[in-house]
Amino acid sequence: MPTLATTVDGLKLKNPFIIASGPPGTNLNVINRAFREGWGAVIAKTVSLDASKVINVTPRYGKLYANDKKEVIGWENIELISDRPLEIWIEEFKKCKDAHPDGILIASIMEEYRKDAWVEIVERCQDAGVDGFELNFSCPHGLPERKMGAAMGQNPEILGEVCTWVMSAAKKPVWAKMTPNITHIEDPARKALAAGCQGISAINTIRSVIGVNLETLRPEPSVEGYTTPGGYSSKAVKPIALRMCMELAQLIKSEFPGRTLSGMGGVETGEDAAQFILLGSDTVQVCTGVMKFGYELVKPLCEQLLAFMEKHKFETIADFKGHSLPYFTTHAELVRLQKERKAAQKAAAEKMVVKADGEWSGDEFVKQSAALASGD
Ligand SMILES: Cc1cc2nc3c(=O)[nH]c(=O)nc-3n(C[C@H](O)[C@H](O)[C@H](O)COP(=O)(O)O)c2cc1C
Repeated sequence: MPTLATTVDGLKLKNPFIIASGPPGTNLNVINRAFREGWGAVIAKTVSLDASKVINVTPRYGKLYANDKKEVIGWENIELISDRPLEIWIEEFKKCKDAHPDGILIASIMEEYRKDAWVEIVERCQDAGVDGFELNFSCPHGLPERKMGAAMGQNPEILGEVCTWVMSAAKKPVWAKMTPNITHIEDPARKALAAGCQGISAINTIRSVIGVNLETLRPEPSVEGYTTPGGYSSKAVKPIALRMCMELAQLIKSEFPGRTLSGMGGVETGEDAAQFILLGSDTVQVCTGVMKFGYELVKPLCEQLLAFMEKHKFETIADFKGHSLPYFTTHAELVRLQKERKAAQKAAAEKMVVKADGEWSGDEFVKQSAALASGD
């Protein structure tokens, strides 16, 4: 019987499914609910030292539908990090750890480009008992105006320096969360890992405009008639997330063996999760999927992932983590491989003497047909 239990950076998770930072981890009530439903870990909504600087608007979500508006496949948000005071969060972190001592609670943190600010937020969350940190270098909207989030994540030098500050204070595992809004996601990830971060999380949302309302002619989501580009998530981003996770996994494998990857972007099924793990993820995070289907989603996720493992006779997550990575190569190599296969086929076919139809026997029929198709 396969097991979903896994240990990542010393954290013991009963399954690899983690609530990603966002609305599903926005306060103690919902975090408790996530643990009760059986999620392997929860990453709380991103916190900062001064919540009074964080001012959210409504509406702040926009959806892309498919199948005659029956299914949401893409989701844009212009939501900021948590606008709830850090003092309240610290109390909630403590209460959460009291209620779920075995639950893995990770604080997502974001701060301005000042060492004292990063060290302070690490120490305050750490003292409250959190099990680890995720550094939000990736929020694509709002906070870049304060040089936070993606603005920091798009500058590998600054990101590396911030990671060094964090690592000087953190006594718990640290994952640096990458923005996909960059050409080479390996560049900032390399700096984070070189600074000593235990792992990388990816991807955050993709900078987007969900659409324009053809009645009002205003872009959406419309706030007082105006909007600002937001972050795109849900099913539609999965192919991009898989590509970026693959690139990060290759980086880890070649330059930082033993470091970890927490993959996300559009995960809604155990099969989606299996693909992230096959491409090198240790754990799999879900945000929009929980907003669409609720905390109970973890049950089908676990069942479907276990069924996949049983089918392929994998006993543990480690048995198939990164299994599909070796099957990426360059396009030139694909051309070479195909040419080689065709040449071999042609040579084999040419060896066959093609007989007249009247002489074909049942045994030779397939070979004769292949010989006739040798120009394939
Ligand atoms: C409404 C909303 C709010 C989010 N807030 C945060 C946040 O505070 N911190 C963060 O690191 N990521 C945040 N995210 C990004 C998610 O954690 C995740 O990286 C992204 O949505 C891709 O995963 P998904 O397709 O499973 O949602 C948010 C996403 C959404 C949809």
